[in-house]
Amino acid sequence: MHKYEEQIVHPELDKPTEVEKVLTVDALAKAIGRPLELSHAGEIGASDSGHGVFFALDTQDNTQSYAIKRFGNSQKAQREIDLLHEAANRGLKTLQTVLDKPLAVSNVRGVDVVTRRIPSLGTMNSIAWSEYYAGQPSYESDIVPVMESIGQYIGNLHANGMHHGDMQLKNIATIPSGEFVTFDLENAYFHADKKSALQQVDFQDDCMKDITTVIESFARSGFMASSSDEIFWQEIQENLLQPYIEESDSLFLLDDDRHKALMHCIDRCKRIRNESNKTHLTIDRLVAHL
Ligand SMILES: Nc1ncnc2c1ncn2[C@@H]1O[C@H](COP(=O)(O)OP(=O)(O)O)[C@@H](O)[C@H]1O
Ligand SMILES: [Mg+2]
Repeated sequence: MHKYEEQIVHPELDKPTEVEKVLTVDALAKAIGRPLELSHAGEIGASDSGHGVFFALDTQDNTQSYAIKRFGNSQKAQREIDLLHEAANRGLKTLQTVLDKPLAVSNVRGVDVVTRRIPSLGTMNSIAWSEYYAGQPSYESDIVPVMESIGQYIGNLHANGMHHGDMQLKNIATIPSGEFVTFDLENAYFHADKKSALQQVDFQDDCMKDITTVIESFARSGFMASSSDEIFWQEIQENLLQPYIEESDSLFLLDDDRHKALMHCIDRCKRIRNESNKTHLTIDRLVAHL
């Protein structure tokens, strides 16, 4: 009965209301024994979180704040907590959980996963990818190193046995030291250290999916929007895939099926790029008329 209850709670949860946020912050304050208030400073854009992440600040110690991520289902929330722990155990830099169980608050829909807020967390979708052109000095100095480090980062996750499951620019973030922080693990898993050959193949296929979703997210971001598909693909290969392959120390990308999957991804990117080209051209035209 317990399980059944958990599964049907709020299957489609929309964003928390202000009242729900305040009630949740009060309940968190009680749970951790600190004076907290809801904080709107540095709020994230609606498109950056499907879960309506919001923040709480310690009113006596303003170096301490918390990120609250709401789930419709406590199993999913618990899974995210467990995976954050597992990532930390494997030596990955990740968000630090504040409670080992999801926080349930009366009169508030859903349950929450609470982590320590990293104020300087910068996600990769905040880069103006569409403003750079291959070959420009600023492209070489600003964009190429970032792409290489993204490739290495994903390669490192895979080498650590982790499939992320929602790999896209908005879920890839660094702190000022340049270290990557691993988060948003709802669809992630770690494969066991001792795995059968079959599980190994499944895992590699899933890693392939992380690669294809991140490439598509580059296309959606307007990366190389006004260049040809050939240039887009060449830049992805040289600056993202090569560092990825070196870091993951694998031949994932070389067998026929995976090559096909990549080509399929590039086809999808062409369509995404056509759409985003239209949007970018419209923005260019608007700016030209200002
Ligand atoms: N502990 C945290 N510190 C700082 N920012 C956070 C933290 N947790 C979440 N965020 C912000 O909230 C956004 C959404 O969180 P995420 O875990 O990706 O959930 P969603 O599934 O809603 O995308 C992140 O991109 C990040 O900007
Ligand atoms: Mg996210």
